[in-house]
Amino acid sequence: MISGHRGARALAPENTLAGMNLAADCGVEWIEIDTQLSKDGIPVIIHDKTVNRCTNGRGKVASLTLEQLQSLDAGSWFDPHFATETIPTLSQTLELCTNRGLSLNLEIKIYHPREAEPLIDAIADVIKQHNYPAEKLLLSSFDIATLQLCQTHLPEVRRGYICDTWNNKRLAKLANLDLFSIHIDHRILTPEIAETIKQQGLILKVWTLNDPSQAERMYGMGVDNIITDNPPLFMAKQ
Ligand code: G3P
Ligand code: MG
Repeated sequence: MISGHRGARALAPENTLAGMNLAADCGVEWIEIDTQLSKDGIPVIIHDKTVNRCTNGRGKVASLTLEQLQSLDAGSWFDPHFATETIPTLSQTLELCTNRGLSLNLEIKIYHPREAEPLIDAIADVIKQHNYPAEKLLLSSFDIATLQLCQTHLPEVRRGYICDTWNNKRLAKLANLDLFSIHIDHRILTPEIAETIKQQGLILKVWTLNDPSQAERMYGMGVDNIITDNPPLFMAKQ
């Protein structure tokens, strides 16, 4: 019922192997992380369009090779204790998830529409290399066109639609995606929206909830999974 957001963002630098391991240590079933392509076409785990905020480097992720990206310190900005952390690849992440028994909610970050297809193809290659089980994976995106590409290129992997706005007309736009889940900003979730989503037989996830006093209200509305920066605060409230 709990997902660690960007690993365990309150406890370790986001989207690092240390954060994912800490989430696993907390006993979560799922982690949510963000992926995009390096300049040389390798899926890497980082949220922003640039490396500026979360590393000691500068520049666009899409303009840097894997070697350049992995030469950066992705942990010191959070705490010097994490100085050896680097930007992980998707491949390293799947290995960690396999070893730690984690399920992976992989958010596909698209900063330009042309990025979607090569990224999804590269993700598919890595999944195949690892023979990673589809039932331990969920591909998610804010972008409907990206989810359509996932449906055609990786039909066996479940899809989740992420949103921070909602109206019931949205369901018609999502109808052909054969979704597994809706991941909604907890601040906009109402009992009516939750009921509409649950009536469609969809799994309902909320992000990014860090106030454990809200957990009971969320579960009461039918929320299946809480995506949080701070998993330990929620583990006792499932
Ligand atoms: O997957 C839910 C959440 O991660 C979406 O927002 O900006 O944290 O990737 P963001
Ligand atoms: Mg995300």
